[in-house]
Amino acid sequence: MMQLRGKPPRAAAAVQTLRIDSGMSSAMQQLRHCHGLARVLLPGAHSAQRLKSNIPLASACSGLLSLRWGSYSSDNSHRGHNYFNTRVPKFRYVLTGLVAGTGAVLAYGFHHSKPERAAASVTQTSSLPVYTQDEVSKHSSLDEGIWVTYKGSVYDITKFVSMHPGGDKILLAAGRALEPFWALYAVHGQEHVLEILSEYKVGVLRLEDCKKQELSNPADPYSTDPPRHPALVINSSKPFNGEPPPALLTDNYITPSALFFKRNHLPVPQIDPDKYRLQIEGLPGGAVSLSLEDLKTRFPKHTVTATLQCAGNRRSDMNKVKQVKGLNWGVAAISNATWSGASLRDVLCHYGFGPEVAAKAQHVQFEGLDRDVTGTSYGASIPLNKAVSEEGDVLLAYEMNGEDLPQDHGYPVRVVVPGVVGARNVKWLGKIVVSEEESQSHWQQNDYKGFSPSIDWDTVDYKSAPAIQELPVQSAITQPAEGAVVDRDMEEVTVKGYAWSGGGREVVRVDVSLDGGKTWHVAELQSGKKGQQPAPPPPPGRAWAWKLWEITIPLPEGAQELELVCKAVDSSYNSQPDSMAPIWNLRGVLSNAWHRVKVNVK
Ligand code: MTE
Repeated sequence: MMQLRGKPPRAAAAVQTLRIDSGMSSAMQQLRHCHGLARVLLPGAHSAQRLKSNIPLASACSGLLSLRWGSYSSDNSHRGHNYFNTRVPKFRYVLTGLVAGTGAVLAYGFHHSKPERAAASVTQTSSLPVYTQDEVSKHSSLDEGIWVTYKGSVYDITKFVSMHPGGDKILLAAGRALEPFWALYAVHGQEHVLEILSEYKVGVLRLEDCKKQELSNPADPYSTDPPRHPALVINSSKPFNGEPPPALLTDNYITPSALFFKRNHLPVPQIDPDKYRLQIEGLPGGAVSLSLEDLKTRFPKHTVTATLQCAGNRRSDMNKVKQVKGLNWGVAAISNATWSGASLRDVLCHYGFGPEVAAKAQHVQFEGLDRDVTGTSYGASIPLNKAVSEEGDVLLAYEMNGEDLPQDHGYPVRVVVPGVVGARNVKWLGKIVVSEEESQSHWQQNDYKGFSPSIDWDTVDYKSAPAIQELPVQSAITQPAEGAVVDRDMEEVTVKGYAWSGGGREVVRVDVSLDGGKTWHVAELQSGKKGQQPAPPPPPGRAWAWKLWEITIPLPEGAQELELVCKAVDSSYNSQPDSMAPIWNLRGVLSNAWHRVKVNVK
């Protein structure tokens, strides 16, 4: 092995030795907390014993915190979250999350965190061996040791890898640069990551090889993401997750596509419509491959107006009870559009779906064309009877609001599963499989499930809960906003919002209160565009679209502050729970308690 001892070349030195700058001081504080935390995080045994003994406790602890982060990296924005208040989840969920395509496989120990800033702070402080890329490449197995490079430094992470299960996935970067892997998750704000990494530093990469790496490193995988409307409130920019401001959301019965909430787990794939193929498997005639043109011309075009809601809509309200893991969505991870395309039922029946298939299969799986570093695509499934029922109205949609699907919403084809949680409405659809099994995707098996408030990351067993399909009844106030001032001279207040229920259950009533729920008023429901004839009532069990609602109520005399509340009732007389605490769950999904907004009267 070539080892050039002594000082590395000067230019390389500038980018080669990590010195943690003042920006890392908060990380240092966090690490100090870690020594105490380790006892909390690893109860029942001496923490240090449960970690590999030769790993410094501080580093192991930081690694664990990163691990816990990894567990919810499918919802990878953590605005204002305090990660140090909750416990480390079971490794298996952490790893499944990472392996399943969050793109954070390697980041599970060393999350990408402000590398630019850290790199800028890198200065030469000690002499370390200089290695060539060839030498680094030889260290790509547990036997030879696992080495990686990052910003011109060489790290031996063998001990770190062996500390955790699922090391085979980490090996993807073995002997190579970390940058391409971390680039997939550019959102991370974990300042301690580079500090952990620095503990494994064994040398510097030869300047020549640094330059080669720079040239060969792929561009930011998000650089081809489409432009987004500036009004969207961004929950995470890479991958892009954004929602419209509440007041804009209910301006339109049909949400303009640009304002429709966007929920991506990965970079938006670039798909050439002429080369696009949709594979269908699990039908008697064997595998089918359809072009976009086939879908458009061989099957009748159906149009459905349907609301999509993310399972995490209103998670921020649940966070007020106790911190959960996931994107801090407000009330607008929900939108309503018209979708056009081929009916999934038509397509499956055309290619041989019939009683023999129905006798065996129970699920229809969908795979997206967006992939993480392991090549894993986003996936989900729905029950077969929803997929093939005439009343299910499931679409292979190629249009949204009368135009080609926008890139963010699944161009050229997505599944629209009316009445079912957004997560099953797979975008950039590449494959359909009619199967005896549910999708084995992480997002079907180990995410998007509900649990008792008593379940935490130590006790959660994802197998014990069904995947969310139909969503419960939901409503929220979009105007006025929290903290708004209501003019006393107006003598009345107008309250607006939306209401929707899953499974095709129609919203039949919305109750609004100005006094925290003591007294109630019934709001006027709007279905269809404002000023136009209301849409004819949907057939029973097929109410896929939301209702907007509005009410103007006289101001109670002398009131200084109002607590506005709304709750909806659906056609099964399901209503929303009055508070969040009893429905709190560790992933912050299904957050549908009465929505409360406090305003001042002046
Ligand atoms: N499909 C693919 N291929 N990749 C994704 O990241 N996100 C899912 C679903 N389908 C997702 C996907 C989730 S969690 C939601 S809520 C909806 O898409 C959001 O759809 P939208 O971005 O069109 O609003």
